[in-house]
Amino acid sequence: MSNTSALSGIGQDDLAKIMTLEQGKVLEEARGEVAYGAAYIEWFAEEAKRIYGDVLPSMSQDRRSLVIKQPIGVVGAITPWNFPVAMITRKVAPALAAGCSIVLKPATETPLSVLAIAELAQRAGVPSGMFNVIPGMNAVQIGEQLTGHSLVKKVTFTGSTRVGKILMAQAAQTVKRTSMELGGNAPVLVFDDADIDKAVDGALAAKFRNAGQTCICTNRILVQSAVYEEFLSKFTKKVQEFVIGDGLDKSSTMGPLITRTAVNGVSSLVEDALNKGAKLTTGTKPITDDSLESEVGFFYQPTVIRDADQSMRIAKEEVFGPVVPIFKFETDDDAIAMANDTEFGLAAYVFTKDQSRSWRVSEGLEYGMVGVNETAISSEVIPFGGVKESGQGREGSKYGLEDYLEMKYICLGDV
Ligand code: SIN
Repeated sequence: MSNTSALSGIGQDDLAKIMTLEQGKVLEEARGEVAYGAAYIEWFAEEAKRIYGDVLPSMSQDRRSLVIKQPIGVVGAITPWNFPVAMITRKVAPALAAGCSIVLKPATETPLSVLAIAELAQRAGVPSGMFNVIPGMNAVQIGEQLTGHSLVKKVTFTGSTRVGKILMAQAAQTVKRTSMELGGNAPVLVFDDADIDKAVDGALAAKFRNAGQTCICTNRILVQSAVYEEFLSKFTKKVQEFVIGDGLDKSSTMGPLITRTAVNGVSSLVEDALNKGAKLTTGTKPITDDSLESEVGFFYQPTVIRDADQSMRIAKEEVFGPVVPIFKFETDDDAIAMANDTEFGLAAYVFTKDQSRSWRVSEGLEYGMVGVNETAISSEVIPFGGVKESGQGREGSKYGLEDYLEMKYICLGDV
């Protein structure tokens, strides 16, 4: 049987359905993620043809100096539940393209999507032993094996900063290469000259993607005082249009959160903000009973918090849910200072029509990725990654392969 016919019958819709059932995101988003995940495979399959070496200037007439690139070795990967397909292919595709085998531990909440991809990889002809999945509840022990084993040469992780630090410390014992895609606290800066409707739509899309459970989700919206009320009222109106429900139901535009613990975490951030003087323009007060829970998931009403300030936990912590605080600022310098006042540095977004302001602000933001008048910044062709405690290394793009390659200098003597 050809590889093509072996794959027939399993498609984007099937993978999307598995994802919606185990992770909760609405079907349309899940379909989008399958396409996003597949794009990494195509991209790195092409990039594999472009792993170049180098011939260096000779230091003497009888010598030649070369650099070759070799696979780094066995890769240990630990992946999150929020993107159970794309975060897998973003690691597996460059590993295979570089010639590395990979041992992957999926999130305990979402092993099925990963197992489906592994099955498809096998059917497509990926040699056995190259892509290995270890699902399991014992995340700590699996993590220790991957970070401690002498055969594993690189550890790649997407998840919380807290866990990332533990893995880095463990990997340091055998001096492994690590790449870490960790937490975020993405600010959206809306300046008074911005196209407000565009800013509303951009902030909204980046906030409520995957019910707010994305590392680059809008975590805070900072609005210049002259346009604060206009932005707030337009944004609130749009937030009220979300239809919350089962991801398989075509009318739903937002699904549940991943667990009850996630709902409680979001609730406690809202409670803290309200206790410190913030107000809701829409959404729910902290959930104190099970009224929003149903057999299809753990729901939290999309919530907008006004009059937020830096004293609130929500200014500093990653929300990972459909809640967004809106802050006011006066000057460009204030906005940059507020945006940078966090240990995180993954993604930030800026809305302004002023070219020189967009350069100045982009350069001043301590983030690995900045979207100007755009929040849909993810793609297989861009270097995804953060600075500060949001991690190290880049995934995707022409840079993403380097993390899986080792450079070797060869000196040819007696020429
Ligand atoms: C993430 O949340 O870590 C990934 C988001 C993306 O790739 O856009």
